[in-house]
Amino acid sequence: MKILVLKETDKYEKRVAISPEVTKKLIEMGFDVLVEKDAGKESGMVDDAYEAAGAKIVKDAKTMLPEADIIPHVAPISIEELQGTKENVILMSLLKPYSNQELLKKLANHKVTSIALEMIPRISRAQAMDVLSSQSNLAGYKAVVDAASEYGRAMPLMMTAAGTIAPARVLVIGAGVAGLQAIATARRLGSIVSAFDVRAVAKEQVESLGANFVEVESTETGDGSGGYAKEMSDEYKQRQSEKLASVIKTQDIIITTAQIPGKKAPILITADMAKSMRPGSIIVDLAVESGGNCELAEFGKTVVKNGVKIIGHANILSSIAQDASQVFAKNVLNLLKIMMNKGGNAVELNFEDEIIKGACLTHGGSIIHPGFGEKI
Ligand code: NAI
Repeated sequence: MKILVLKETDKYEKRVAISPEVTKKLIEMGFDVLVEKDAGKESGMVDDAYEAAGAKIVKDAKTMLPEADIIPHVAPISIEELQGTKENVILMSLLKPYSNQELLKKLANHKVTSIALEMIPRISRAQAMDVLSSQSNLAGYKAVVDAASEYGRAMPLMMTAAGTIAPARVLVIGAGVAGLQAIATARRLGSIVSAFDVRAVAKEQVESLGANFVEVESTETGDGSGGYAKEMSDEYKQRQSEKLASVIKTQDIIITTAQIPGKKAPILITADMAKSMRPGSIIVDLAVESGGNCELAEFGKTVVKNGVKIIGHANILSSIAQDASQVFAKNVLNLLKIMMNKGGNAVELNFEDEIIKGACLTHGGSIIHPGFGEKI
């Protein structure tokens, strides 16, 4: 079976879906791996490394589309890029299905078997395939490093003969995968860290990393299904807003990561709250791609309001593309392993497997995922 690795065309995407290291493993599993010229260049993975791993570099990937059995990809692909593929070609990619239903219809019409990597269920057996976790972990780390580099002051407490430098106060809003890594990174840099999340279980996780948990007095918790958060009541939102307003004005750096799957990210930092911070403070809004947690954040831009810098990366993972691609590729490899038939010589999807059931959106000309509606 042939795996075709395409060069990503999204203007913000620098990652690549398969690394040379994973190429070698795929070839050992019996796949032929074709890699579009320069597919890994922007993430520091050169054609020579893929060739050394056993891949064939192809100059014109379009000509290879009819031969591809599997197309791993990072960003949602356009249907135009799949023209000429064979029926039931398997696409394994982030697809942003909630905001991209048009693409789903097109994938179904085009008879693509699409696996949305972000829909892989959050169960123990799927941890090694969990692209959201592998990528969020790096995003949380990079957000703090970026904030530290933009911050015109030092992060740790320093007691010197020339005086004492106070440690930076960092607030992390949303203590999921990205948030917990942001807390750990900010702690390693010596700052005083607080964090907030609506899920009850987050308190213990935050405290185990040595950070202070910001409590909102309420009996309501935000635990939704699958480990994700649910949307909170208006009364809770009001209390949360009052609490955050009092904490935010004392912080130097804020990293926000709060998301609710399938919905616009909640606005947790209003313009007034952001402006209440001391000039020179930094906000990194990791939820900006789904609307942002800070009212002032702008997608793909850094804006300065009242001296507060608000960073809204278009794709933070592209700024750490090499590691992000390495772990992404391992996730894809691990998913492919459970897609093999008993003989281990071909991919054969088991639609009864809860991982495939959870992530496969289109197959055989239809949208088959119950969360995304009718057959077309
Ligand atoms: P996410 O990216 O969907 O959201 C980030 C964080 O924002 C979450 O912790 C969420 O509770 C929080 N949030 C949402 N609305 C908020 C609000 N209004 N105010 C404050 N915080 C808010 O979530 P992520 O990081 O992808 O994972 C969430 C959870 O999923 C994990 O903490 C874990 O419990 C579970 N998980 C399970 C895995 C497994 O068992 N295989 C793997 C990874 C995660």
